[in-house]
Amino acid sequence: MAAEEEGLTGPGEAWPAPEPDPRPGPDARREPAEHRPEPKSVPELLLGRPPMARPLPTFDAEAAPAEPGPLFVDWLATALAAGVPDPQVVTLSTVDADGLPDARVLVLRDVDASGTGWVFSAAADSPKGRQLADHPAAALTVYWPQLGRQVRVRGTVERAADLVAAAEFATRSPDARVGALVGRQSEPMASLAEYDEAVAVARRRLEATPDAVAAGHAVYTLWAHEVEYWQGDAQRRHVRLRYTRTGPVRTPEWSRTLLWP
Ligand SMILES: Cc1cc2nc3c(=O)[nH]c(=O)nc-3n(C[C@H](O)[C@H](O)[C@H](O)COP(=O)(O)O)c2cc1C
Repeated sequence: MAAEEEGLTGPGEAWPAPEPDPRPGPDARREPAEHRPEPKSVPELLLGRPPMARPLPTFDAEAAPAEPGPLFVDWLATALAAGVPDPQVVTLSTVDADGLPDARVLVLRDVDASGTGWVFSAAADSPKGRQLADHPAAALTVYWPQLGRQVRVRGTVERAADLVAAAEFATRSPDARVGALVGRQSEPMASLAEYDEAVAVARRRLEATPDAVAAGHAVYTLWAHEVEYWQGDAQRRHVRLRYTRTGPVRTPEWSRTLLWP
């Protein structure tokens, strides 16, 4: 298991197989599966499945707190209570040296009380790490389908001191640390056997030196300039509230604006 998956699977587990969804889909009542024609295209698969066509919570944006942090805690707690799987998994968007956007999901580790600092960790020598070194700005996005809620964060990114990264690394499970010690994330790989061999080497290294820290392990803080809370509505009366930071990161002040959906 790679370091980044820490917290999503138990120690020693591979990626869990997706649970079959016990709920019948919109087509389930039409005819038995064996009589249904094979779906041919993306539009056919999506036919009759508009997003957010279900009861969704409301969002009183005008009563929202003065800073974006408390609202994120509130929405995250609601997502957990609603059974959203892995609500801490967010999309991190960066840009590469050619200005081409890149994006991938990762685990959000923390958000400070005001909602200014959004913390995640990654390998500094991975593509995203190199992109952040060259261009330290990013966006984080999360969508929680059960609630029809999206949160969008944009800002500049700062890499924490190695001591901070080492302390965070020590909190991870042995399997997660082994995964990070293997390194070489996103490099082409000849075979899975090659990976298994590298894991065995990393495991032996960790047994011999339990304090070993992966060279590229990095903790990053995205210092938000903007945080948007987006509440979807089946009738398209989506409610959007954008916080814009006006003060410095250590003493932030925020203005709030409603946005047209
Ligand atoms: C559920 C999930 C959680 C993940 N968490 C992380 C993470 O916390 N950190 C990380 O670097 N990659 C994480 N990954 C892997 C990334 O999506 C990505 O594949 C990897 O970081 C390489 O990205 P890059 O080539 O853009 O650097 C996660 C993937 C999934 C599916």
